[in-house]
Amino acid sequence: MRVTVSRRAHFNAAHRLYRPHWSPEKNEAIFGKCNNPHFHGHNYELIVSVTGEVDPETGYVVDVKILKDYIKSEVEDAFDHKNLNLEVPEFKAKNPTAENIAIVIYNKLKLVLDPHLDLEVTLYETPRNFVSYSGK
Ligand code: NI
Repeated sequence: MRVTVSRRAHFNAAHRLYRPHWSPEKNEAIFGKCNNPHFHGHNYELIVSVTGEVDPETGYVVDVKILKDYIKSEVEDAFDHKNLNLEVPEFKAKNPTAENIAIVIYNKLKLVLDPHLDLEVTLYETPRNFVSYSGK
């Protein structure tokens, strides 16, 4: 039987969305408030969902203590209270949109999780705006 196990996490981070070769007017038109040259912060909410077979011996799909530790080491330690553009290597040349942040989180967690587990990452940039990525 396949069951999905989810864990919620949180981090605060600053970012700026822009394309360096676009004019200030075009950047403002496309990215709006997220184009602020002085950066700004979001309170990101993250839901990590892992789907797999229930282990008959433990009754677990994944040990949530281990999942919690992976989220801490791969996501919270890397992103919390950071400037994503300046301090996180994955966003040196890539806009830290919610979409791209979700993809980076997915790729980092996929590397450490058991390869038999399916992974989905849902990232809330605001309480009303959120994205999901499951590697497809
Ligand atoms: Ni923003």
